[in-house]
Amino acid sequence: MQLSNGIKIPSIGFGTALANKEPAITSVKKAISLGYRLIDTAAAYNNEECVGTAIKECSIDRKDLLITSKLWNDDHGYDSTLKALELTLKKLDFDYLDIYLIHWPNPLKFRAEGYEKRNAESWKAMEELYAAKKIRAIGVSNFMPHHLDALLKTATVQPMINQIRMHPGHAQKETVAYCKERNILIEAYSPLGGTGGDLLTKPLIQELSKKYQVSVSQLCIRWCLQMGIVPLPKSVNPIRIEENFNVFGFEINEEDMNALANMPDDAKGLPHPDEARF
Ligand code: A2P
Repeated sequence: MQLSNGIKIPSIGFGTALANKEPAITSVKKAISLGYRLIDTAAAYNNEECVGTAIKECSIDRKDLLITSKLWNDDHGYDSTLKALELTLKKLDFDYLDIYLIHWPNPLKFRAEGYEKRNAESWKAMEELYAAKKIRAIGVSNFMPHHLDALLKTATVQPMINQIRMHPGHAQKETVAYCKERNILIEAYSPLGGTGGDLLTKPLIQELSKKYQVSVSQLCIRWCLQMGIVPLPKSVNPIRIEENFNVFGFEINEEDMNALANMPDDAKGLPHPDEARF
């Protein structure tokens, strides 16, 4: 797959939310040894140092990996974005980052003043960091069409990625259509329904996993791939890390793809981006 600026991006990545300390280091190393080349972290995950350590200790060249991090909600604004990226690079111990995303569009801290101005300021800083080659690609996360509409009013560089929560039972059709029209690549976090969710036990998922003779997680990840979305499954378990990468030997037919896309919306755990209390 390719970003709008020509950068090649793997069709599947590795999520690290909620992974910390030793498990974060060992799981990232395991993922890289199995072939994952896109690793997703964030300032808010509190594991950037661990990801940096894993990358230093793995046997793959830094330039052959794509590392994503994200600007946290408290750091929106021009100066604070510049500082936040500097801190992220320091924690990762990198001199450049591959992908940097605004983590959430509408932080509680700045909500009273309206999200548009802060996002425009953060974006200006990110455009400058991109021009200075400190970041190879810039994007957003959890942005809905109205957040993107506002950002695009002042942006001179269009976001290359929008990372959203997406899985069967949360197909985010409007946001996906909006981004596809504008050549903004979608990444799916929580492709398995997220920690604490019950997606993997739903009858349709169970039934189709039997039909295709794959695990329930493989079915969900494959659905993202066939939607043209880059899934970012997270796991700290070596067997699951391998299972989640082994999704290239089967194909879901059109009827089943549609059935998965049309499951009743059920995204447990995370709030609407405009109502998040953080
Ligand atoms: P663990 O890290 O212990 O494997 P998502 O990527 O949708 O946010 O889901 C992450 C959650 O799903 C984590 O709790 C993770 O736990 C679990 N998980 C990851 N891979 C699998 C798998 N193959 N089968 C079942 N659960 C999984």
